[in-house]
Amino acid sequence: MLSERMQSALNKQIRIEAESSQIYLAMASWAELQGLEGTSKFMYAASDEERMHMLKFFKYINERGGHALVSELDAPALEFGSIKDMFETLFKHEVYVSQTINDLVHISLEEKDYATHNFLQWYVAEQIEEEAQARTILDKIKLIGDDKGGLYLFDNDIKQVTVVSSVSPQA
Ligand code: FEO
Repeated sequence: MLSERMQSALNKQIRIEAESSQIYLAMASWAELQGLEGTSKFMYAASDEERMHMLKFFKYINERGGHALVSELDAPALEFGSIKDMFETLFKHEVYVSQTINDLVHISLEEKDYATHNFLQWYVAEQIEEEAQARTILDKIKLIGDDKGGLYLFDNDIKQVTVVSSVSPQA
């Protein structure tokens, strides 16, 4: 059985993962309108991946006798000044998500909830991969600078990049 504090913290994370999915969906749409087909495809897949992260929390809470909640979400940014701005926003967001996962791990230890601690390890590994991927993409974008040909090649390359999933989904 989950403690009230653990359950409420996990439900908060459901909201964060759902918001991540919306943030990346908005990025997919913006990139599509810029004609960045590869980037857009990557962001649609990233949005799906975040929904999967959300659902894993969802199922876990109910499995442990809690009640997984669907909550109101904050509206994401719809416009970006440039593709660099967009990936900077994405990178900062992933760093923020990693922090929220760390906070959950901390709570699970305080609550002596070792099952939840074990469950969270999947997310700890996933965040290392997601941050690393976002950093690599951002470094490439910075290298390209204002070179339109470079951007074209980047967009073509990112089409082949699969959204990272460090461990196969358990849910
Ligand atoms: Fe669910 Fe990208 O962290």
